[in-house]
Amino acid sequence: MYIGIPRETAPGETRVAVTPETVKKLKGQGHQLLVQSGAGVGAAAPDAAYAAVGAEIVDAKAAFGCDLVLKVRSPAVEELQLMKRGATLVGMLNPFNREGLERLAAAGITAFALEAAPRTTRAQSMDVLSSQANIAGYKAVIIAADRYQKFFPMLMTAAGTVKAARVVILGVGVAGLQAIATAKRLGAVIEASDVRPSVKEQVESLGAKFIDVPYETAEEKEAAEGVGGYARPMPESWLARQRAEVAKRVALADVVVSTALIPGRPAPKLISAEMVQSMKPGSVIVDLAAANGGNCALTVPEQTVLQHGVTIVGETNLPALVAADASALYARNMLDFLKLICPKDTIAVNVPLDDDIVAACLMTQNGQLTRTPG
Ligand code: NAI
Repeated sequence: MYIGIPRETAPGETRVAVTPETVKKLKGQGHQLLVQSGAGVGAAAPDAAYAAVGAEIVDAKAAFGCDLVLKVRSPAVEELQLMKRGATLVGMLNPFNREGLERLAAAGITAFALEAAPRTTRAQSMDVLSSQANIAGYKAVIIAADRYQKFFPMLMTAAGTVKAARVVILGVGVAGLQAIATAKRLGAVIEASDVRPSVKEQVESLGAKFIDVPYETAEEKEAAEGVGGYARPMPESWLARQRAEVAKRVALADVVVSTALIPGRPAPKLISAEMVQSMKPGSVIVDLAAANGGNCALTVPEQTVLQHGVTIVGETNLPALVAADASALYARNMLDFLKLICPKDTIAVNVPLDDDIVAACLMTQNGQLTRTPG
C-alpha cells in the first residue's frame, strides 16, 4: 500500500507521524512510504535519513494523494483537498472537534483519531495521550527550572545554604506524574493535588506529598471515582475546600505545574488571580491546560506573561518542544495501531469494527460521522 507522510503545517508543530525507524518497519511489512520533503526536519530526521531506509521523498501533493495518510494533526482545509475520496487518515484528529470531523466526512475520508483509543491494557502501546502527556510533564518542569531564577535542589556551599524549590503539581494524570518525577530528580520538594483518590499512592511512591481534601458526601465520593480512569467535574463544595488547601500551598510555592483536565470540557480553574498575587516574586507557573482555557485565571495561551512578579507559561504544545522523542514515541504508537487496520502485506485498509480499539478510533467513514463527537 502507498502510505503518505506529509509535513505538519500547524503553527509550532514540529513533530512527524513516522520516523525513519518506523519507515523501516513499515517497509518490512510490504508498504511503500512517500515522505514529504522536510517532514522530519523539526524532529531531527532529515530527508536523507528517510531516503536511507527506503522512503521516497515527495511533494505535498504526492504525500496527501496516498491511500493511507499518517499525520500528527488534522490536515488544513487546503491540504484536505489534496486527499482522495475514500482514502484513510490516521492522526490526532481531536474527537471533540465536530467541525473538523464533519469536514473529513464531507471529503469522503475514513478517519481514525488516535486520542479516542480506550485506556485498556491492549491499547497501551498505541496510547498517544499518554506518550505525549508524559513528554509534556517532563518539559513543563524543564521550562520552569529554566525560568526560575533559583536552584531546584537544596545546596550547601561555602557561600551559604540554598533552600530546595517548593513545587506544587495540580492534576496528577500522566503529565502530572512525570512532572513530579522530573522535579524530584532535580531535587525539589513537591506537593500534589488531584480529584481522584487513587492518585495518592502514586504521588507518595514518587516521593511527593499528596494534598488531602477529604470527601464529605456520597456525591463528592462518587464524582471523585471518575469514569474510565478520567476525572469528572467535582461538586462545588469539594472544589471550594480544594481551592482553600491549594491556595495555602501555592502561596508558599516557587513553581506550580498545573495539568488538570476533564475530557471535552474547559479546564477547571484552580489558580485564581488572587492566588497568583499571593505568590513570591520570581515564582513560575507552567499551565499545561493552556490549550483548554488554562487552570490559571491569568494564563494567556501560547504566551509567557509576567503577572504580579510571577512568570506564567501558557505553552499549548509542549511535546512539540521535544520533537524528536515525541515523534519517536508517537510513531511507535501509530505503528502499533496500523497493525490493526493494515496487517502485513495488505493492499487495502481494513476496518474491523469488532475490534474495540478500531471502533473507538473510527470517526468518519463513507461520508458520515460514525459517532457523535465527544
Ligand atoms: P487528563 O489529562 O485527562 O487529566 C489530568 C489530571 O487532572 C487527571 O489526573 C485528573 O484527575 C485531574 N483533574 C481533573 N480535575 C481536577 C481538579 N479539579 N483538581 C485537580 N486535578 C484534577 O488525565 P490523563 O493523564 O489522561 O490520565 C487519566 C487517567 O487515565 C489516569 O488515571 C491514568 O492513570 C489513566 N491511564 C490509564 C492507562 C491505561 O490503563 N492503559 C493509560 C494512561 C492513563
